[in-house]
Amino acid sequence: MIAGLSLSVAVAATNMINPLITGNIVDKVILSDSHELKLLFKLILIMISTTIVKSIFRYSYQVIFEHCSQNVIRKMREDLYAHIQTLDFSWYDKTLSGNVLTLLTADLDKVRHFVAWVLYQIVENVLIYVFSIITLGLINWKLMLAFLAIAPFVIWLVQKFKIHIGPAHMRVRDQFSVLNTRVGENIEGNRVVKAFVREDYEISKFDVDNEAFRKVAVENADVRVKYTPWIETLCGVLPVILILFGGYLVITDQMTIGQLVTFNGLMWAFTQPINMFGVLVDNTQNFRASAKRLFELKELHPTVKKEFEPDYSALTVVPGTEVKTDDSIKGRVEFKNVCFSYSNDVPVLTDVSFVIEPGQTVGILGPTGSGKSTIANLLCRYYDAKSGEILIDGKNVKDYDPQFLRKNVGITMQEAFLFSDTVEGNIAFGNQEADFAQVEHAAELARVKDFIGDLVDGYDTVVGERGVGLSGGQKQRIALSRLFLANPRIMILDDTTSAVDTETEQKIRKSIKEQCKGHTTFIISHRVSSFKDCDLIMVVQNGQIVQKGTHEQLIKVDGYYKDVMQEQQ
Ligand SMILES: Nc1ncnc2c1ncn2[C@@H]1O[C@H](COP(=O)(O)OP(=O)(O)OP(=O)(O)O)[C@@H](O)[C@H]1O
Ligand SMILES: [Mg+2]
Repeated sequence: MIAGLSLSVAVAATNMINPLITGNIVDKVILSDSHELKLLFKLILIMISTTIVKSIFRYSYQVIFEHCSQNVIRKMREDLYAHIQTLDFSWYDKTLSGNVLTLLTADLDKVRHFVAWVLYQIVENVLIYVFSIITLGLINWKLMLAFLAIAPFVIWLVQKFKIHIGPAHMRVRDQFSVLNTRVGENIEGNRVVKAFVREDYEISKFDVDNEAFRKVAVENADVRVKYTPWIETLCGVLPVILILFGGYLVITDQMTIGQLVTFNGLMWAFTQPINMFGVLVDNTQNFRASAKRLFELKELHPTVKKEFEPDYSALTVVPGTEVKTDDSIKGRVEFKNVCFSYSNDVPVLTDVSFVIEPGQTVGILGPTGSGKSTIANLLCRYYDAKSGEILIDGKNVKDYDPQFLRKNVGITMQEAFLFSDTVEGNIAFGNQEADFAQVEHAAELARVKDFIGDLVDGYDTVVGERGVGLSGGQKQRIALSRLFLANPRIMILDDTTSAVDTETEQKIRKSIKEQCKGHTTFIISHRVSSFKDCDLIMVVQNGQIVQKGTHEQLIKVDGYYKDVMQEQQ
């Protein structure tokens, strides 16, 4: 970068040489009586050499800036991507995916453009302007001052332009994110759109956003169109000054014709930076709008974080290295008067208290939206409780390193998510060290083996977004084997077998029973049959635990559990 800047200084300086030589040729060769041809050839040789050197320098620093910008952008993208990974569930809940995509692509590209082009253009143009003032000042300071007369007007215009173009760029970037989100959402939800024949409605929604984008883009262009011609007009005054005032100085013998030719030759060095001023301010404001958005993202910090630096020595884990599950977690789980609400402050859990001993299997039943998945979310510390305490082995979850905690508390989410990867890659996602035999064993436990033969490439079949389609139950089974292979001390199965037929569910239940030995396990389900092997069953209603007991105890008392069981028999 420093080499690039030095080269651009050299290029700006060499720009002064040829007009100076031209002036000398006029005065010392053309207008002189001797017409020295030797001197002419010498001067022309210098001019050609200067042009070649300038081109080489220019090429070199453009390459340097372009390479630098690509490096800068790669590092920034890497940092931002890593930063986004650290952000909380609550951030993902409210963030538009299109906005993140815009930040990582279009906004970062604005930064690249700034480093690759705008930065050296600023340096080069400022230098050309300064060098030309010095060169022309040394030749004739009066004419140079006359050239400078337009400067205050240009500065005033550029200042006004800057004030208006900055917010205009910001509006364009924001609306671009909205457009991106709309497209992304439509692609993701395309099946629903088609199923409900809502294509026209979606198109009209897109049209509204598209029109809003056109409006802000036109406003942006209007600002540019309003100011830049005035700056160019001011530059048009310079030749008039040159002819009138320069001619007057030559007539009154205060300047030679050769010097006037040098002034003429360097006039571009005055006008180009002024003309570029508008373009560069425009580009800089565009960069600032993107940089501001990127900076805002970088300034976000996870609220779910370590309350204090964990004692890594006790965990035999070095910060920055792969966090490993540790035998220090036994699996005792305690909720103490836990209250929770998501960002909208509607209470979701109220005063939830329970104790689960290590190795116990717990069933959680309750109507839709009662707060079952929320209990799981809090246990994994995807969110922090508003009040009360969640303890694992007597220690508050806030006192664990979140990554260490999540290595020990594993979950299969209610909506099974598969990556665009092979079946094997998806199963081994939580345990990269596992060999194929272990993957196969986990697949057998979750009954993935039952359908793996039907897939074209078996375990190498690419599934997920870019792969072959799988049924809901098949996805759930792959997700379950992922958890089995990761084998965490505490396991949460959130509605894991909801899309699986009863016969397969029975087989999986057997596997779960086998896998759960020595593990604390939470089974969240709407099917009473899932709780057959549970040591304890809790019924959640309206964010509260309303019933607690074993299957035998709960069927004897009137309540939600008994009602559901009778319905399902
Ligand atoms: N990310 C979120 N932001 C805001 N509210 C949420 C969020 N997730 C869930 N909720 C709300 O919290 C309540 C409890 O949701 P939860 O997912 O825990 O229910 P559930 O018992 O698991 O239901 P289901 O049986 O349908 O899975 C619901 O009213 C839901 O609308
Ligand atoms: Mg749920």
